[in-house]
Amino acid sequence: MSSGMTTARPIRIAPSVLEADFGRLAEQIAQVEAAGADLLHVDVMDGHFVPNLSLGVPVVAGIARHTDLFLDVHLMITDPGKYARAFVDAGADGITFHIEAVEQPREVVKQLRGLGVKVGVSLNPSTPAEDVLEFVEMVDIVLVMTVWPGFGGQRFMDDCLTKIEVLAEQLGAAQWLQVDGGVNIETAPRVVAAGADTLVAGSAIFGAEDPAAALVLLRKAALEARAQAEQRA
Ligand code: DX5
Ligand code: ZN
Repeated sequence: MSSGMTTARPIRIAPSVLEADFGRLAEQIAQVEAAGADLLHVDVMDGHFVPNLSLGVPVVAGIARHTDLFLDVHLMITDPGKYARAFVDAGADGITFHIEAVEQPREVVKQLRGLGVKVGVSLNPSTPAEDVLEFVEMVDIVLVMTVWPGFGGQRFMDDCLTKIEVLAEQLGAAQWLQVDGGVNIETAPRVVAAGADTLVAGSAIFGAEDPAAALVLLRKAALEARAQAEQRA
């Protein structure tokens, strides 16, 4: 049982547009915005750091024109420092890079800090919490991948829960402990019980017949798990 949850970091739901219908993206985003999404998670893939391509700067700029939601840009690319500014200029409110993609993560954090947005660092399933703990006080967001990055709709990896518990103990109340990959109505309570506060969900929201209703149910499940965890603490 993690006591990290007692810091009461608020629960946030972040629909991932990767699983939206790109042909009617503005409409789909409006649906989740109206349903109370806290942020919008935008996955950028370069076909190099991950074996898939997704979207780039012009799409982020287009999204920004159609929503007031916080744009949480998840860079699954080999050279985040090179492209971060372009995404910020396009409207990103947060930039998260992968620790595995860079040699000097502290330097990348410092560079991103200069762009005036929230700064996040993400860990692949095999990357230990210790790698980020060395500089964790420098970031706003720690993103724990609970699938291998690159594709939506994968199965949640249970063995990442321990890492979430470890990080939950270390993060401050203003930092976000975000979880991405296979988060749905069944797994959300488990990641919240482990101490996560910010839940990325692609297929569980945009793959549902009614994305707005799915978001509301996911938040309900997360809040119930939080309440139960607080009772136990
Ligand atoms: C995967 C992306 C995720 C993805 C999640 O590499 O980083 O954000 O959209 O999709 P689901 O929720 O379907 O696992
Ligand atoms: Zn993501």
